[in-house]
Amino acid sequence: MSAVIVSGEGSGPLAAAVRAEVGCPPVSCEVRRFPDGELRPIIDNLRGDDVYVVQSTGPPVGEHVVELLLLLDACRRGGAARITAVVPYFGYARQDRRDASGESVGARVMLDAIVSAGADWLVVVDPHTVALEAMCDVPMEMLTAVPVLVDALHDSLQRTSGGRGTGEELVVVAPDLGAAKLAERYAAALGCQVAVVRKSRRSGSEVRLTGVVGDVEVRRAVIVDDMISTGGTVEAAARALAHGGATLEAVVATHGLLVDAAVDRLAKAEVPRVITTDSVVRGLRSGLEVQTCSIAGLLADAIGRLHRGEDLAELHVTT
Ligand code: R5P
Repeated sequence: MSAVIVSGEGSGPLAAAVRAEVGCPPVSCEVRRFPDGELRPIIDNLRGDDVYVVQSTGPPVGEHVVELLLLLDACRRGGAARITAVVPYFGYARQDRRDASGESVGARVMLDAIVSAGADWLVVVDPHTVALEAMCDVPMEMLTAVPVLVDALHDSLQRTSGGRGTGEELVVVAPDLGAAKLAERYAAALGCQVAVVRKSRRSGSEVRLTGVVGDVEVRRAVIVDDMISTGGTVEAAARALAHGGATLEAVVATHGLLVDAAVDRLAKAEVPRVITTDSVVRGLRSGLEVQTCSIAGLLADAIGRLHRGEDLAELHVTT
């Protein structure tokens, strides 16, 4: 059974890089469009293959979700022997429970749709919540880009500190309670302290702060999160840190969606640089220093191991 990688528009360049690293031959995969916008994928013969469908569900989210589902279905109907959905950025993970009556559990709906479209296996990277696994009816691999980002952050801190190192004066900041565990993982890798900003959300783009827990005064601070969407969370945390006497060095997030006015917002909040990955496709924007680290190597490693039936534990999110 040969390994084959197909992808949609949500991950085109990343999938090409993964394909090159894995060394599998290109397959013809084209997503055509009816005049009304309806998508229609057409994929080469995949009969008997071990197929990896690489597709993030970043913006436009609905379009990329539908494209992912149609690609999975095309692979299944094309006779693939095993289908793995590789969804580096898994949208809808923030909707893992109902906060109010009348809401849906969007994460569960997405997982069910992916499985019923044909996925036998699911791979995601730094999902918003590890609760996804318990909702998923097929085996799921939750990979982490934290080691890749820590390396980039380490280099960046060395550059900006003039070689003073990253030890005692540094603090890793979780911009909300949900990011506290993630902050601990970064802090363990960098050998420094953690602080947590207490936030509550007013709307999809507005957050309210209630304080910072931990010592940030006269420290160099790094904000870490799973994702940056509108930038509201980071903006609020950056202002709280400035108020607390810290110097913000960088913001690190696996998924740099940077939607709407996020770039202007972060620039206004004097965020010096954002370090993120290529998990989602973004347009080029100016006004903010954004360093993008590739997770192609991580995904290629995971796909190689899955194809050979090997363990992926050392690539996983640790909880
Ligand atoms: C929420 O809990 C997430 O971890 C992120 O903090 C949040 O989704 C970021 O969104 P935004 O950039 O719109 O504040």
